[in-house]
Amino acid sequence: MKISFIILQLILGLFILLGFVKSDPDPLQDYCVASTENTHNFYINGVPCINPQLAMASHFATSDLSKPGNTRNQFGSNVSLTTMMNLPGLNTLGLAMARLDIAPDGLVPLHSHPRASEVIILLKGSLFVGFVDISNRLFTRQLRPGDSFVFPKGLIHYLYNMDKDEAVLAISGLSSQNPGVQISSIASFTSKPEIPDEVLEKSFKIHGPDLAKIRRNLGG
Ligand SMILES: *[C@@H]1O[C@H](CO)[C@@H](O)[C@H](O)[C@H]1NC(C)=O
Repeated sequence: MKISFIILQLILGLFILLGFVKSDPDPLQDYCVASTENTHNFYINGVPCINPQLAMASHFATSDLSKPGNTRNQFGSNVSLTTMMNLPGLNTLGLAMARLDIAPDGLVPLHSHPRASEVIILLKGSLFVGFVDISNRLFTRQLRPGDSFVFPKGLIHYLYNMDKDEAVLAISGLSSQNPGVQISSIASFTSKPEIPDEVLEKSFKIHGPDLAKIRRNLGG
């Protein structure tokens, strides 16, 4: 009787805890336009706001995503993201937006966002996307213009333009004002200081020359 009561309490406690697993905290006021100019000598979880009386429509607008990103780089892709600098009105609202330009045969390499789920809509081209869940299962899809796809928070995913002629244009929404991004290959092979060779060799089952080659290819 008593034991089952304790178990019941534990289960209830777990449900309450799970209820707190959310994205960014809810704002306590209409808005908190990010103050990006002052240097503040205190630290908070987010960015301080300007005086609400000074807020203007321009704080809630940006044309930054109207310009294509330059895809002449090692992966043939470019992701432009809204930030506290180019869209300060997003501060505390728990979302961000990205424009993805991917050249023919270009790739947004394997990466994850520690703080955000991401939903993408393909506007132009054809795009091959996928993510791997924690049981190591791959979920993958070939998208046509108008199709959407969701990458759950924190899971490793990729976006590949398999087309050899047409560039991809896609837009994504992210469930954090500061989603963060960790590119698997870059984080593993070009961190500063470097992850010890032995760790990488054993992790990826490779030997010294392979390791040096991968580091060189990634510009590490
Ligand atoms: C993405 O495009 C912008 C605008 O053209 C450019 O400034 C930036 O260097 C590009 N980023 C990469 C990784 O190529």
